[in-house]
Amino acid sequence: MLPQVTATRYVTPLKEGGSLPGIVEASDEGTYVMKFRGAGQGLKVLVAEVVVAGLARAIGVPVPDLAVIALDARIAKYEADEEVQDLLSASVGTNLGVDFLPGSLGYDGSQPPSADLAERIIWLDALTANVDRTWSNPNLLVWHGQTYAIDHGAALYFHHSWPSRAPSAARFAAQPFDAGRHVLRDVAGDLVPRHDELRRLLTAEVLDAALADVPDEWLERTDDLPDVAAVRAAYRTLLTARLDSTAWVPGRAAA
Ligand SMILES: Nc1ncnc2c1ncn2[C@@H]1O[C@H](COP(=O)(O)OP(=O)(O)O)[C@@H](O)[C@H]1O
Ligand SMILES: [Mg+2]
Repeated sequence: MLPQVTATRYVTPLKEGGSLPGIVEASDEGTYVMKFRGAGQGLKVLVAEVVVAGLARAIGVPVPDLAVIALDARIAKYEADEEVQDLLSASVGTNLGVDFLPGSLGYDGSQPPSADLAERIIWLDALTANVDRTWSNPNLLVWHGQTYAIDHGAALYFHHSWPSRAPSAARFAAQPFDAGRHVLRDVAGDLVPRHDELRRLLTAEVLDAALADVPDEWLERTDDLPDVAAVRAAYRTLLTARLDSTAWVPGRAAA
């Protein structure tokens, strides 16, 4: 389970983020980048953030710590900016907190990660179908000389159309990933020889633990996925099928 805290103060919006995340202070004295349940595509984005961060950690990709932040209606009431007030009002309840990395720099290529870490990050993005790590949107921070991966809300896009229009497990497993525009393309070496080693780190237990980190109330039920166990099982089925394929590994001829 992720730590549960309560927002005590909304500090400022992060204007550079497309989803208007904001900085908040919380009851544990921590400062977080808050990703709002009421933003854009809603809870699914928060689910993707939690699941992919769990997988990232397991394969040695540094990610900021996450927390679940409860947001009270009173905090929205005191916000002067109307756009932010609307977002806060729409987000009363639990939201995602990403530990704020003070003084971190957006990735510009001047302090590239090792080839090893670059390969892990591209492999993770290929596995989770995350197209949101390009030069126009690196979604990497450099903090104390270490590269951190952030912003996994665009990954696992299949959940936006499931269950009816989502790809079958077999189709998702075979879907290629184009790493051509990936921000770390030129830093990474060949991914194909890395696959077996990285895949082995993502055991069924690791996958289940990442899915268990998602608060039940963020898992939206549908007619075909009537309870949270069914929703988690659907993620497990799709991700396991993809893990058991190599068709998506960049640089490998479709298998
Ligand atoms: N944990 C963090 N610490 C410091 N800055 C962050 C952190 N997370 C995000 N940011 C900053 O906020 C911006 C937007 O966050 P991001 O998660 O990418 O949201 P969006 O989904 O809106 O793109 C990032 O590009 C980065 O500059
Ligand atoms: Mg981003």
